[in-house]
Amino acid sequence: MEVTQRGTIGRIITDNRIVRSATNDYRGGEDKTVSMEQVGIYKELARSNVGLIITGNFAISEDGAIDSNQNALLTSKQRESARMISDACHEYKKPVVLQLSHAGLKTRIPKYQGSDLYDVNKMTHDEIKKVINMFAICTLEAKMLGFDGVQIHLSHGYLLSDFLNPSVNKRSDEFGLLEDGDWIINPLFSKIRYLVGDGYPILVKITSYIDKLSKEKNDKFLENLSKRVEKAGVSSIELSGLNLPSFGKNDHLYYGDCINVVKKETNIPLILTGGLRNMEDVNKAISLGADFVGFSRPFIRNPLFANDLLAAKESECISCNACYSLKEKGSKRCGFLK
Ligand SMILES: Cc1cc2nc3c(=O)[nH]c(=O)nc-3n(C[C@H](O)[C@H](O)[C@H](O)COP(=O)(O)O)c2cc1C
Ligand code: SF4
Repeated sequence: MEVTQRGTIGRIITDNRIVRSATNDYRGGEDKTVSMEQVGIYKELARSNVGLIITGNFAISEDGAIDSNQNALLTSKQRESARMISDACHEYKKPVVLQLSHAGLKTRIPKYQGSDLYDVNKMTHDEIKKVINMFAICTLEAKMLGFDGVQIHLSHGYLLSDFLNPSVNKRSDEFGLLEDGDWIINPLFSKIRYLVGDGYPILVKITSYIDKLSKEKNDKFLENLSKRVEKAGVSSIELSGLNLPSFGKNDHLYYGDCINVVKKETNIPLILTGGLRNMEDVNKAISLGADFVGFSRPFIRNPLFANDLLAAKESECISCNACYSLKEKGSKRCGFLK
């Protein structure tokens, strides 16, 4: 398989295998609407040779937002502004998937920060069901706004990631991680499916390495999780991690050695993201079994990065990680941009 080959994720058809992985640009309005600056970012991405665009994460609730500017689909104003993103991508015939998340304990909103409101070991059944309902409602909203699919964020230490982390989730009820239990996976995806119907593509982004687990235990957990999400009707798995900022300039393909763990248990397309910077990385990922290759920072450094990649040019992103904090300063998205 070549990166230039057309691909499918459920009913989404892509011109090639290059994915712009979900990237919060921190440019949303104070009312969580999509700003014109954000529309410009998507337009620029869409006019490149990217195969699939995944939006930055949209919050499923007010208290599930990472910060006060994070985009959401909760009001009609927010929803109508989000439609500008799907329109912008479709204008250039690029499929676009909207990512949904609940930040859980990672929120930076002072009102919710430090509270144990979203401690997965303390949440009541009613509180969990409310979160599940909001993921389902927002998926339906995304579908009605013209997005080609949604990606449910199950990684990066956000709320659902904590539910799927055996080092964190110690529950002994159906929302725990009991071998013969449903985990949060079954109620979550059956509720979403119930609302959006069959066929609408639902993707997930999962954690490749769990803190404090040996490689052997980690692989077993990853196999189990992958099988469960496939069985729940998910169309694609993207591999990501909890430990992104710990990788340095010389690290590539952070999660390459987890590809075969997932691929041997599933038949759905796998997106590998994290530390891919050039065609050598891409070919390696594909030879290890990846169906799609995902990039975030290379597209921050250069929104037209997909064109460079296809011309065999390396990304100029040096993985300095400055863009993780540039949001606080309200400045450029990449420290190297004028
Ligand atoms: C500024 C910034 C914002 C990000 N926002 C999101 C996000 O909204 N959702 C998500 O799943 N990952 C997000 N990520 C993580 C990326 O999607 C990606 O998994 C990670 O950066 C590794 O890929 P890369 O080496 O190509 O950058 C973000 C990363 C950066 C640098
Ligand atoms: S700030 Fe650093 S890591 Fe982020 S896009 Fe620019 S070069 Fe890459």
